[in-house]
Amino acid sequence: MAKPLNIGMIGYGFMGRAHSNAYNRVSDFFDLEYTPVLKAACARNKEAVQAFADNWGYESIETDWKALVDRDDIDAIDVCVPNNLHKEIALYAAERGKMILCEKPIAMDVAEGEEMCEAVEKAGVANTVWYNYRRVPAVTMARQLIDEGRLGRVFHYRANFLQDWTIAEDLPQGGAALWRLDAAAAGSGVTGDLLAHCIDTALWLNGSIADVNAMTETFIKERVHQETGEKQQVTIDDACTFLCHFENGSLGLFESTRYARGHKALYTLEINGENASIRWDLHDLHRLEYFDYKDEGKLRGWRSIHVTDHGGEHPYMDHWWVPGLQIGYEHSFVHHVADFLDSLAKGEPCPPTFRDALETQKVCDAVLASAKERAWQNI
Ligand SMILES: NC(=O)c1ccc[n+]([C@@H]2O[C@H](COP(=O)([O-])OP(=O)(O)OC[C@H]3O[C@@H](n4cnc5c(N)ncnc54)[C@H](O)[C@@H]3O)[C@@H](O)[C@H]2O)c1
Repeated sequence: MAKPLNIGMIGYGFMGRAHSNAYNRVSDFFDLEYTPVLKAACARNKEAVQAFADNWGYESIETDWKALVDRDDIDAIDVCVPNNLHKEIALYAAERGKMILCEKPIAMDVAEGEEMCEAVEKAGVANTVWYNYRRVPAVTMARQLIDEGRLGRVFHYRANFLQDWTIAEDLPQGGAALWRLDAAAAGSGVTGDLLAHCIDTALWLNGSIADVNAMTETFIKERVHQETGEKQQVTIDDACTFLCHFENGSLGLFESTRYARGHKALYTLEINGENASIRWDLHDLHRLEYFDYKDEGKLRGWRSIHVTDHGGEHPYMDHWWVPGLQIGYEHSFVHHVADFLDSLAKGEPCPPTFRDALETQKVCDAVLASAKERAWQNI
């Protein structure tokens, strides 16, 4: 019989649903020492959070997140609220000895992130940040190929995260569903929202970034704020492009925007090494493209590997269906929960920890500072 881990969920939006699905599914597919129990869900609107709790199987609800954290029957707090609330909740939860699974970006800026790291380390509580793309099997396999030394010296790392949902001038900013456009709630625009994912994966696959040179743009300068009805200046970055040097000597090129007409959520990455290259595309997330210069000349070309094999060949896939049947976006969260529960059983950290996620935040802050000052920034 698995030991229960009682979850207190804060927020019932996009991530509240993605994580609830993961908690519900994980024990059906992974044999682990711990099993999550959906103890309580919290949000401010009682009817809405009750409907969410009923739908996903939470035993109870709270409308004040402090009341949720204070409960003795909650072991772990899951922070699925806008970025400006992450720090306050994490500090409060750490002080009360709760484990914390926090959404990304870890915080509004590095100063907040530092406080959060100190709090969880002082309290000695398990912590992790939901940079879920690491746990898409094809991306995990990219890391395995790199660790096996197949690429040789790395020359280039490039990543894009392109969307097109904020092009309309009459789209309001702020409040429910649109807090991402309000710097007071989000901290930044595409840098913290989208590039943070690209940066986390890059640091994981290719090591530390030494310095950055960025440009940002806010294409629509004023929008009506949903909560006040007033037209206000837009202070988030709508688009951001940056160059960087990695510590391993390779060059990085990153681009993100919400103004790339035709792209819904195109996250792509490519790594070019002296012996081989790797390419991945979120729209085809179960495939890893791989080019190996050692292949026989006349057959040499990009392979498209369907990352669904069993027998330990393809990460995580032994837990799912049969080879050839792919899994999707939501499974990256199931894998994160499985790894978190496994790390608890082993008494090990579950990466990315708050401290790991702080490294991504440092790059995000340096990118924004570089764009503002029009100058290279060291990390
Ligand atoms: N890992 C990923 O791929 C990924 C994807 C989307 C969002 N995120 C992150 O997840 C977090 C939440 O984003 P989302 O897309 O789920 O947002 P969302 O707008 O869909 O949901 C936010 C939730 O927070 C709740 N909330 C707001 N203020 C609250 C308060 N004071 N007390 C209790 N609940 C409150 C809202 O009611 C809502 O349920 C953000 O930090 C975001 O950056 C991560």
